[in-house]
Amino acid sequence: MAFSIFNLLGGLFSNDIAIDLGTANTLVYVKGKGILVREPSVVAIRKSDRKVQAIGYDARQMVGKTHSDIHTIRPMRDGVIDDDDIAEEMIRAFIKKVSRNRLTRPRVIICVPSGVTKAEKRIINDSAEHAGAREVYLIAEPMAAALGVGLPVDQPIGSMVIDIGGGTTEIAVISLSGIVTDTSVRTGGDEMDEVIVQYMRRNYNLLIGERTAEEIKCRIGSATPLKEELKMVAKGRDLIAGIPKAVEISSVEIREALAEPVSAIVDAVKLSLEKTPPELAADIRDRGIIVTGGGALLKGLAVRLREETSLPVNLAEDPLTCVVRGTGIVLDDMERFGKVLMRK
Ligand SMILES: Nc1ncnc2c1ncn2[C@@H]1O[C@H](COP(=O)(O)OP(=O)(O)O)[C@@H](O)[C@H]1O
Ligand SMILES: [Mg+2]
Repeated sequence: MAFSIFNLLGGLFSNDIAIDLGTANTLVYVKGKGILVREPSVVAIRKSDRKVQAIGYDARQMVGKTHSDIHTIRPMRDGVIDDDDIAEEMIRAFIKKVSRNRLTRPRVIICVPSGVTKAEKRIINDSAEHAGAREVYLIAEPMAAALGVGLPVDQPIGSMVIDIGGGTTEIAVISLSGIVTDTSVRTGGDEMDEVIVQYMRRNYNLLIGERTAEEIKCRIGSATPLKEELKMVAKGRDLIAGIPKAVEISSVEIREALAEPVSAIVDAVKLSLEKTPPELAADIRDRGIIVTGGGALLKGLAVRLREETSLPVNLAEDPLTCVVRGTGIVLDDMERFGKVLMRK
């Protein structure tokens, strides 16, 4: 009796948390409270003494607008840890943000790209421990994404999930709580932004920033012709005259600019289908593929994948939060889903 009351109280006061440590965005889910943090994975530091100036949204505001002593860093940029110390500061800052209650130290599950190295796992683990975690568990991103979209990951049924993030696209086939095949390519939303920057420079002599390129991609970027093609004005600096300039661009041009990264994603999906064992391939043919991650929101991308694979391809509901919601599902029922966690 006393034990169960103790357990009940522990449950009430615990602030166990699930973290999606993405290359573009970090999301934190707190048990019983929902998603409390949803911020860009960006840290601004002062170069002279490497002191952190801002984290998350505040740091993101500074991208492309800093003076020479301030530097903005995305510590997870290509799906791996780019800068240990800064990654650690970021993880700690986000955990601190949600840990009001310092009496009970939280259990933390962190979602990481499936290709992380042993050394990277250690850094993530240690950062979370330094930030006050009582126990730290890791989960592979595609597994979390699959849980987040409600796939039956612990059944003997093959499911394919494509997660298009900022730095990488991960394509995984999951069955019986494990990842059967996993293809990861370093093409994602960031590369789409980069090709738009290059396109504007080459075709208009216009230098635009990373954030402007992202805005263009989200507003008028596409992977298939649109019913009604779109237009917008892009602002930047004229490379010849050196002065601010604005030009009107169309979705047709931006689709042409995005052709290469979009094809790279399509090719990786086809390759991954070729690697899938036949019984599971049959399940995928029946049940289809689910696309998640912010990159899945590119207009026409799901349609393009459907055309190229001749399989049913569906866009996940709220693709930007699938991974953290999936990690939260594991946190809420460790008994059932503990087996999907990664070995450290
Ligand atoms: N409407 C949209 N169209 C195209 N790309 C989008 C859209 N919304 C967000 N993105 C892109 O999604 C990426 C971030 O996705 P996210 O799943 O948060 O990545 P990560 O898991 O790597 O942090 C960014 O590159 C962002 O520009
Ligand atoms: Mg992600």
